[in-house]
This record gives sequence, C-alpha cells and structure tokens, in this order.
Amino acid sequence: MYIINLLEIIFLFVLIFWFFFFIAQAYNIIFKGYAPFISTKKSVIKKIINNIELENNSVICELGCGRAGFSRFARKKFPNSKIIAYEYALLPFFLAKVQNWFKKSNLDIRKNDIFKVDLSKTDLVYCFLSVKMMKLLKDKFLKELKSGTQIVSYQFRLPEFEPIKVVIGDKTTEKIYFYKIK
Ligand SMILES: C[S@@+](CC[C@H](N)C(=O)[O-])C[C@H]1O[C@@H](n2cnc3c(N)ncnc32)[C@H](O)[C@@H]1O
Repeated sequence: MYIINLLEIIFLFVLIFWFFFFIAQAYNIIFKGYAPFISTKKSVIKKIINNIELENNSVICELGCGRAGFSRFARKKFPNSKIIAYEYALLPFFLAKVQNWFKKSNLDIRKNDIFKVDLSKTDLVYCFLSVKMMKLLKDKFLKELKSGTQIVSYQFRLPEFEPIKVVIGDKTTEKIYFYKIK
C-alpha cells in the first residue's frame, strides 16, 4: 500500500514536470522563435563530423545542445579539444548531463541562454536551431566570433552569409551548411 502511494506521488511529480516543460517550450517557441527539443540524427552527426577540419586543441561550442549528441561525437574525433554545450531548458540539460556522466565524454555542459554567452574564444560552432534564431545569431556571430571560426548549421541557413560548403544529409531536403568567418 505504502509503495503504491509512493509510486503515485512520483508519477504525479513527473507528470507535473512534463506539463511545465511543454508549457515553457511552447511559450518560447511561439513567442520568442526558439527551437524545439529535437535531436540531430546520428547518421547526420557522423556526416557533419567527417566534414569538419579542425585542430585537435580547439574550442567547440554546441548552441542549444539538447542531449548534446553532436558534442559527444565531436569528443571522439577531437579528444584534446574543449567542448562546451549550452542548453537553456532543464529537461534536455539534465539528460545531457546524465549521458555525459555515463559515457565519460568530458563535456562542459552549461545551462545558459545562448544569446547571453561569450563566443569570442570559439573555433567551431554547431547549431540546429530555427530560422528566427539564425537571424538573431547573425549579429552576435559578426560581433563576437574571431576570423577563421567555423559555423556548422543543420537545416537553417545563416542569413547574408555565403556557405563555403553545403552537404546533403540522408535525404535531399536535409542540408548541412558550413561557414567560415573572414
Ligand atoms: C533542435 S534542438 C537541437 C539539439 C541538439 N543541438 C541536436 O542537434 O541534437 C534545439 C535545442 O536548442 C535549445 N534552445 C532553444 N533556444 C535556446 C536558447 N535561447 N538558449 C539555449 N538553448 C536553446 C532547445 O531547448 C533545444 O534543446
């Protein structure tokens, strides 16, 4: 009887947490144009990683990391790099932390709004965000990123920037845009 009551309480807490997570995500998606929590497919991540040329001691940032799948794969190819993954939402941030701990990926996962972080030391930025966010990020990138910094964006172009390379994902509709700051 006691265990059943405890399970009911845990279930209720999980339900309430999910409810507030969805409300907060819906608010940010509708009113701020923030990207929803959807992960880049593993096959696409592998393609991206294979197309990146970077020194092994670089600084890599995943903006809006979700479960930080890209960062974990990047760790395998760039074991000596500093990899910072930013996420503002509690649930994906928590999942990223747990997976980082279990898989010993040694990522620096930070709970931050990406518009409030300093990107000036970054050598490569990865994003899978939204049209609106790429528009807003354009000015931040121009202001903060140093010459030579690479930007990789899955599905969403960076307005007014000319990609140095466009790679097709699993389907012809899936595009990966590669940019370099001049
Ligand atoms: C489409 S998902 C991509 C997740 C991950 N980068 C991937 O490729 O699998 C976008 C993520 O960005 C997060 N996000 C949206 N706006 C953000 C913001 N302003 N600051 C930090 N994270 C944000 C969302 O919560 C979501 O987890």
